[in-house]
Amino acid sequence: MNVVTCIAPVNIAVIKYWGKRDEDLILPINDSLSATLHTDHLCAKTTVMTSADFKEDRIWLNGSEESIDNKRLQNCLKEIRKRAKLGSDVGSWKVHICSENNFPTAAGLASSAAGYACLVAALAGLYNVEGDISAAARSGSGSACRSVFGGFVRWYSGSKPDGSDSIAKQIAAPEHWPQMRILVLVVNDASKKVSSAIGMKRSVATSELLKYRAEHSVPRRVEEMTKAILDRDFTKFAELTMKDSNQFHATCLDTFPPCVYMNDTSHAIVELIHAYNAAAGETKAAYTFDAGPNATLYLLEKDVPEVISILNHYFPTISLGDIGVEYLKGIPVQPAAVSEDLLRRINAERQSPGKLKYIIHTCARDVELIDKYGVITSLFGACIHKRDTRPLQEIVGEIIGHFVAYEEELGKRGTIFFGGTEPGMLDVLMWPWVERAKALPLAFDQPLNFDKEKFPHLMKWINGMKGQKFVQKNFGPFEAFAKVIKAQDDVDYDSI
Ligand code: DP6
Repeated sequence: MNVVTCIAPVNIAVIKYWGKRDEDLILPINDSLSATLHTDHLCAKTTVMTSADFKEDRIWLNGSEESIDNKRLQNCLKEIRKRAKLGSDVGSWKVHICSENNFPTAAGLASSAAGYACLVAALAGLYNVEGDISAAARSGSGSACRSVFGGFVRWYSGSKPDGSDSIAKQIAAPEHWPQMRILVLVVNDASKKVSSAIGMKRSVATSELLKYRAEHSVPRRVEEMTKAILDRDFTKFAELTMKDSNQFHATCLDTFPPCVYMNDTSHAIVELIHAYNAAAGETKAAYTFDAGPNATLYLLEKDVPEVISILNHYFPTISLGDIGVEYLKGIPVQPAAVSEDLLRRINAERQSPGKLKYIIHTCARDVELIDKYGVITSLFGACIHKRDTRPLQEIVGEIIGHFVAYEEELGKRGTIFFGGTEPGMLDVLMWPWVERAKALPLAFDQPLNFDKEKFPHLMKWINGMKGQKFVQKNFGPFEAFAKVIKAQDDVDYDSI
């Protein structure tokens, strides 16, 4: 049996995706832009297993079995199996999938984005698929293609009928704007809404405003938003975020019959944020709402304590204003004392207790290490295909230089794996290259001086990865790989 476990992040759009130009291929009518959130606080976790003994593909979501005949699931499986690099018998084995979120699915917090991004990353690990997996994630759920990257991510709608130019790209890494913080306000609301897929189909069919939005508003806004992010211009970023959320919900109301996602509490949050920004004399927070009543606030780190206190004042908890552990989750924060004067100037209504279930305080996620890893794999590729003719030690020196960031990151995280206590997306993608690195000195008959003492965390990581069952099952001897490199003219690519 082969097993792979992965985690993947949630992303929250600041320029929304709403409407498909191709329902089957999941191609959007407009570009969208989002921030990918930290997996410590919101993430999906998926384990995939394959075995000769499994009679059929099966899936369990948050502990209960669901139908595998879901078209989106089938799309992901098909996409990944098409690119599988395994022996034909393993490639034909059935797969069992177990997926769960570390937040309630019912909260409607972009769970499908994290879920499908996680599923394709785990399947890619299981089936040894390399390269960009964002298109495979998109085939499960549109917004999932943005969760494959960290920081601020733009999903280009593209115009080609086959969707080959409808891809996600990172526009800025999280360290570009490390002060950016996110508060997810989970609204107490149990009612079932129209799913995004059905809602957007209905909007495309009936809303004139949606057509206007896709053709006129969004193209201008994505450019302005990209500039605001690159310039770290919070005022502009916040204005565009709020306007785009409002316009998206206006198109939902313009849909016939209308899709109503925000509720009274959502509208009270909108009112409070505008009243707070006005009282503060500057834009301190921005709200955005997906297809549900929960709000996501974007704000800067320095303002988090004050905003938490203001929220607690206007949306008291049932326990009369106490911010307990259960109420405030995520990055710890000490609420600031808010002056009576500021509260007097905020022209908003105080809500009855219990309108907010809880608040999650989080930040952007640094999955950009995954993107950076592409530099290492390109160097490695150029070396083994002899496109880079420099002495091996020089190329390896450059590769090792890039590994310094990974060593430092593991040190900062204080965990064996980048994914935490278990391998995540980055661990799985990195491993095949690390496993084959020992083949280089054999293939090129040159010594490779790797100073292990400079990389204590990566050495622990290598040992941890070697202990993983899926690594042991898929292990390929580096001596065999060295032979493949040497036999350049007669390469058996299936053995790579
Ligand atoms: C409102 O990605 O869930 O969150 O492609 O049909 O799976 P499908 O839709 P989905 O839609 C998300 C819509 C949104 C806005 C956004 O995330 O951009």
